[in-house]
Amino acid sequence: MNNAYDKYAWKIPSDPIKYEDLPLLDVKAEYYHFDVQEIDTLKLIEKNEFLNWLFARHQFRSGIVKMDPFKIYDWHEDVGATNRGVCINALISPSPSLVMWSDNLRELQSQGGNSFQADIVPFQYELNELYLFNPSIMHSVYNFEKPRLLFSLQFEEAYEDLKYEELLNEIKNEYIG
Ligand SMILES: [Fe+2]
Repeated sequence: MNNAYDKYAWKIPSDPIKYEDLPLLDVKAEYYHFDVQEIDTLKLIEKNEFLNWLFARHQFRSGIVKMDPFKIYDWHEDVGATNRGVCINALISPSPSLVMWSDNLRELQSQGGNSFQADIVPFQYELNELYLFNPSIMHSVYNFEKPRLLFSLQFEEAYEDLKYEELLNEIKNEYIG
């Protein structure tokens, strides 16, 4: 790890992901409590060197996750109902929104602790850039005045088999080299 921030999210050196280039399927699905517009993943990876490399090692589906204006997505870790050890996402709409992480949220009174304050780490996606995102640390999402569209991968592998730090190291060592 080069940087303290890398444990939350890491910008992947990849071609940009743009809404107008995505091969959309006429299929709606639901995963992780979101409505998802499915993407034709095999077509998608033909045009993106990084995703093509990744798919050969770790198969995935892909889709667009939509969040309505002025919504909060509650604090959570992606274990249990939304079980996943790592996410790869790109913000594909120019919508102001914020992700927050917290390493000690459970100290708050509202979370069953004794404290009125906890630490937060804010994060904003750069538009159209692909990120590795650590879903095992408590996080929440705040969306402001526009619909928010997030390109997102869903890996076939189980939570135990593909985790954030492992995939980060694999990309750094074997893709970037
Ligand atoms: Fe999450």
